[in-house]
Amino acid sequence: MEKNTVAKNTVEKNAVKKNKLVIVVGSVREGRFGPVVSSWVAEQAAAHGGFEVEVVDLAEVDVPLALPAASPKFAGADYPRPAGMARLTEALEGADAFVIVTPEYNHSYPASLKAAIDWHFTQWTAKPVAFVSYGGAAGGRHAVLHLENVLTELHAVTIRDGLAFPNYFTAWADGRPDDPQAPGYAKVLLDQLSWWAGALKAARAAVPYPA
Ligand SMILES: Cc1cc2nc3c(=O)[nH]c(=O)nc-3n(C[C@H](O)[C@H](O)[C@H](O)COP(=O)(O)O)c2cc1C
Repeated sequence: MEKNTVAKNTVEKNAVKKNKLVIVVGSVREGRFGPVVSSWVAEQAAAHGGFEVEVVDLAEVDVPLALPAASPKFAGADYPRPAGMARLTEALEGADAFVIVTPEYNHSYPASLKAAIDWHFTQWTAKPVAFVSYGGAAGGRHAVLHLENVLTELHAVTIRDGLAFPNYFTAWADGRPDDPQAPGYAKVLLDQLSWWAGALKAARAAVPYPA
């Protein structure tokens, strides 16, 4: 085999080994700031190198508030989701890790995010979730505390080191945070997420999760 072929195969093998990271944009409000934050997070994740990155924007997904009668936990693939939700469901299903980008609304996270979470169950199970939040003085930390609680119920594993951007309206310019340390903090979050993504992926493959 030629040297170039060996190098190409190694690159392809490494590419296959990358964990699939889904970044969820939680806010759907008109004039929202969420996409600015999620674009920057996606940039950091691509630069990290450990992930194949997909951004799912809930504003582009049909996420009704009214749920079907059955439970998504027990209905499995038969759960009757709207056609406009397929991209979200497929992304969650195929993900090895998640970053949820959330603002803070009334000391919690947006209803759009709760609906998207509630339409699914097994898609979150035994997978790691990290949080990037933004808001006023608390930087969205109240929203993250609530999300940690909810995602634990779904057997997800929440990552300790999150990124919180207080008073984002004066702390961001030209699509990025002013704080020069922010990329370093993002790397710590992504390193932890990558570790958990690999560990949990191997564990899920070895033994079915006892949920
Ligand atoms: C309904 C509503 C409630 C809010 N409540 C809070 C809050 O409790 N704490 C906070 O820090 N910011 C709060 N904010 C300000 C948001 O953090 C800010 O508007 C942010 O831009 C919202 O994210 P988005 O632009 O992506 O929708 C609230 C905003 C809205 C629309």
